[in-house]
Amino acid sequence: MDTSSPTIDSLRKVPSAEDSTADCEGTSTPATSLQYYIFGQGISFSMSPTVHNAGFAYYKLPHHYSIQQSPSTETFAPLIAAPDFGGASVTMPHKLAINKYCTSTSIHAQRIGAVNTLVVQTQPPARSESQVKQILGENTDWSGLASIIEQHDASSPTPARTGLVIGAGGASRAAIYAMYQSGLSTIYLYNRTLSRASEVASSFSSLFTTTIVDSLSSLPSASPPDIIIGTVPADRTTAAFFPTALFAKTKGLCIDMAYKPRETPLLSVARGHEGWETVTEVEVLLAQGYEQFQLWTGREAPKQCILDAVAAHDAATVAAARL
Ligand SMILES: NC(=O)c1ccc[n+]([C@@H]2O[C@H](COP(=O)([O-])OP(=O)(O)OC[C@H]3O[C@@H](n4cnc5c(N)ncnc54)[C@H](OP(=O)(O)O)[C@@H]3O)[C@@H](O)[C@H]2O)c1
Repeated sequence: MDTSSPTIDSLRKVPSAEDSTADCEGTSTPATSLQYYIFGQGISFSMSPTVHNAGFAYYKLPHHYSIQQSPSTETFAPLIAAPDFGGASVTMPHKLAINKYCTSTSIHAQRIGAVNTLVVQTQPPARSESQVKQILGENTDWSGLASIIEQHDASSPTPARTGLVIGAGGASRAAIYAMYQSGLSTIYLYNRTLSRASEVASSFSSLFTTTIVDSLSSLPSASPPDIIIGTVPADRTTAAFFPTALFAKTKGLCIDMAYKPRETPLLSVARGHEGWETVTEVEVLLAQGYEQFQLWTGREAPKQCILDAVAAHDAATVAAARL
């Protein structure tokens, strides 16, 4: 890996600059026009093009981001090989298979076992060679979550110490890793199928301990969670799935990576506990998108401008549906 290239760890420290800019006007920067994509399947309603194109427009970058759907990653090969390939978001079902197009993968993507971002890195040319394009496989699912946890911690009198992840599928791995990277000392994991929870816990065992609980009612009462991340599809749960004891702390943060409906049973239970902040899957998607924008452009995502663009897009979609 080219250590001079931006990494998630270095870029996440970029100081906030333009978030307060109200008029979505950034500085003008001449640049070569590049193509960015989201690679996935069943993603025609993805908000990622709105997010990234708003960011490019803010900085007056002549880039474009579009949706590319296919059941097979082979379809994406010519796009990745093209000279104007700028980078890509990668979503289900390609987060593992996309590996074959990566020259290298970051330590974070290796630990989580999934790539959700392709970053182009150009090596300085050797004397007689032209520039060599390399593709880094990154993961911003965890760093988006970590940024949400850090923001929560910054506004809390004491940092969160204990986390609980509910569910042990693909999404849980980024959630657990984000908790570890955010410095939580105790991480509980609950899953309906215990063997699956054990598999996830053991994959991280060389780095940290994940404590498996066999029921959501059996967390030690002495250390209730400060942070809860739900990863069970929302249509498979009801409010009764989440015991009140989970919210024993007077303050906490509850994130749901699941959606449909946006107001999930987990979030609605959490909202019933004063002092608990809630974060929807849409906010999680935005947070990981901001991380991607930084990796691709080296600039902090203009968050307010992007939120305005997403709201306008949502309003236009609703209006079109009424016609
Ligand atoms: N994968 C990602 O990177 C990602 C990113 C953002 C958001 N999400 C969202 O997060 C959610 C989970 O995604 P995933 O990829 O982790 O899915 P997954 O790999 O299929 O895992 C689903 C998890 O939900 C549990 N589950 C399913 N039905 C259940 C039920 N009736 N009762 C109790 N537990 C049940 C499963 O438990 P068992 O092991 O017992 O079956 C498993 O732990 C989805 O809504 C997805 O859209 C995923």
